[in-house]
Amino acid sequence: MAGDLAVIDLAPPPDDYAQALLEGFAGPQRRIPCRFLYDDEGSRLFERITELPEYYPTRTEMGLLSAHAREIAKLAGPKVEVVELGAGASRKVRLLLDALEAPAGYLGIDVARTALTEACTALARDYKSMKVRALVADFTDVDRLPPPNGWRLAFFPGSTIGNFPPEQAAGLLDRWRRLLAGSDMVIGVDLQKDPSVLLPAYDDAAGVTAAFNLNLLARANREAGADFDLAGFRHVVHYEPALGRMSLYLESLRDQQVAIAGRPFRLDAGERIHTEDSWKYTLDGFRDLVTRAGFEHLRAWTDDRLRFSLHYLRGRL
Ligand code: TRP
Repeated sequence: MAGDLAVIDLAPPPDDYAQALLEGFAGPQRRIPCRFLYDDEGSRLFERITELPEYYPTRTEMGLLSAHAREIAKLAGPKVEVVELGAGASRKVRLLLDALEAPAGYLGIDVARTALTEACTALARDYKSMKVRALVADFTDVDRLPPPNGWRLAFFPGSTIGNFPPEQAAGLLDRWRRLLAGSDMVIGVDLQKDPSVLLPAYDDAAGVTAAFNLNLLARANREAGADFDLAGFRHVVHYEPALGRMSLYLESLRDQQVAIAGRPFRLDAGERIHTEDSWKYTLDGFRDLVTRAGFEHLRAWTDDRLRFSLHYLRGRL
């Protein structure tokens, strides 16, 4: 307990990263699971991404939340407990909390312990009548939630759902629909659009996204007994319009050998380590996906340039 804040710690054991790296380097296509992007350093860098001129999703989604918070509040009803998946700095949720009628509580879920507890401490300070809880966990691993403070409203912003391939995304939403025992969900989803807008959002001029991606290697050196030379890699993005899939890689600039937890691996010049995908949807495509996941799709809102979308899903048991 930190003041009014209850912290529930379900963080994965610290040896996970070495294990995941060894698995990700075992096959011909090297990969690093994207959940490792968000350690405390990664969370700080990601906050900077959300403020970049090229990264339109955050400010577009904030605009949609401000514009439609009253309607969302009406759909959600009074005294809900907001459950945020991948809470991070929890700036967006304030727009929701300020509009909701007497929100009963807030349960933030994130793997980044420091970022989450700081954000939750601030929320507990600013929303005194709310019971604030921090669940330090990977939201894809959560299979039980602490007892609810009344009816819940899940909040899943930032197009994080786009970081899973569509079938996995549908499975994840289906599982959360059950975990939430029929409560509703507000979810933000990035839309398919011209690559001239999409690509710079993942490859900004200031190099913050590159640093965010490269932090995976720095983190491997810190936590997984690896010896990556960060200057030997560059950040690369690729968009596949037919799929709506943005892919991020770290490309080896030369033939090199790296060690992970004492095991050697060769990388050729130009060889890419896959680190993240960010799937973009059409409005119809996303409606189909949530329907497959068992939700009733009640509303979708978009900005006038059709860049980003916000959806209100009715949970069903
Ligand atoms: N959910 C965010 C997105 O897909 C995450 C993100 C933004 C991200 N920029 C990134 C992930 C760069 C990896 C690298 O837009």
